[in-house]
Amino acid sequence: MKIAVLAEGADGERRVAATPETVKKFAALGAEVAVEAGAGARASYADDDYAAAGATVGDRAATVAGADILLGVQGPNVATIAGAAPGAWIVAGLNPFGERARVESYADAGFEALAMEFMPRITRAQSMDILSSQSNLAGYKAVLDAAAEYGRAFPMMMTAAGTVSAAKVFVMGVGVAGLQAIATARRLGAQVSATDVRSATREQIQSLGAKPIFVEHVKGIEGEGSGGYAGEMSPEYQAAQAELVSSHIAKQDIVITTALIPGRPAPRLVSDAQLATMRPGSVIVDLAVEQGGNVEGAVAGEIVERHGVKIIGHKNVAGRLATDASALFARNLYNFLSTFWDKEQGRPVLDEEIGDAVRLTKGGQIVNARLAS
Ligand code: NAI
Repeated sequence: MKIAVLAEGADGERRVAATPETVKKFAALGAEVAVEAGAGARASYADDDYAAAGATVGDRAATVAGADILLGVQGPNVATIAGAAPGAWIVAGLNPFGERARVESYADAGFEALAMEFMPRITRAQSMDILSSQSNLAGYKAVLDAAAEYGRAFPMMMTAAGTVSAAKVFVMGVGVAGLQAIATARRLGAQVSATDVRSATREQIQSLGAKPIFVEHVKGIEGEGSGGYAGEMSPEYQAAQAELVSSHIAKQDIVITTALIPGRPAPRLVSDAQLATMRPGSVIVDLAVEQGGNVEGAVAGEIVERHGVKIIGHKNVAGRLATDASALFARNLYNFLSTFWDKEQGRPVLDEEIGDAVRLTKGGQIVNARLAS
């Protein structure tokens, strides 16, 4: 059983899918591990440390030659993995809805592609969930990015020269990223409020010392919705939400938006007109910018200014903390493969519940129900 760790080819991707720690653990399971030279360099993991952990380090061709499992943060270009074993697994964040053509290329080449973002939201899979581990770091970094662009302080300060008032931070979308954003903004001393469509988040917001801002009298989503995710809201709800946001946002200094709907464009939560009511110098971070954006005018990969308000649209925000993001991502992949490791066969054998959820391609076909169309 050979596991190959690929260097990422995507622009600006600094993370790596295995660390010396997880290489050592895979080796302890009896796997042979090959790491592409320089794979961890941008996340501060050195080739020598991979070698010391038991991996062979070589070029792309040597790394993939005969590999049974290919690990990546993002999906590799199929042309660069042609030397892998027939039917090899590709285990990575594959962006199945956004990169359909690439998924088809894996099917055509006979690979078994396993999309880690399709991990089901069940208790036993929590330690394998890349969306959670990466969103948590993104939520933290979003607040630091906002603080860095903001021309004022976050905490209230009483000084001999006068008082600096606390920043008001509004978090829209209280999933994994939003909860961490609330906690981080609170630690920096901001006054924090937050909103979501899932009623279950109200208590979570309060428990972090923030103020819940919720649409009343129109039905939101009770509990966790399907698999913990939100769906699209009714036009009536959207109108009530827009009104609520309009009255609240004008008084905010920082807005962090994180709202996502799986397989759909991100919901639009802040309009240009609402932006115009904010104080000049205010900052918005749109963490959903790569899925179409929660904020009108946000541009992926850029910081733009509208009506004196800065809109931060960094891509791959977790990747801006590449060392920790890689460490957690790598453990997610190790937890996934080791949980299913069959000692007799010396390789992982997936069960139906998780296997069927994450498997995109097999035997030359696209086999995932969420991609059937
Ligand atoms: P997500 O990244 O899909 O969405 C972020 C947030 O945006 C969600 O809270 C969603 O309700 C909210 N949202 C969507 N549309 C909105 C709108 N129009 N206005 C305002 N907010 C909107 O969600 P995420 O962070 O991946 O997880 C959501 C929940 O799933 C978590 O809070 C957690 O309870 C659960 N979960 C369970 C796991 C497990 O059991 N293995 C693992 C991870 C999360």
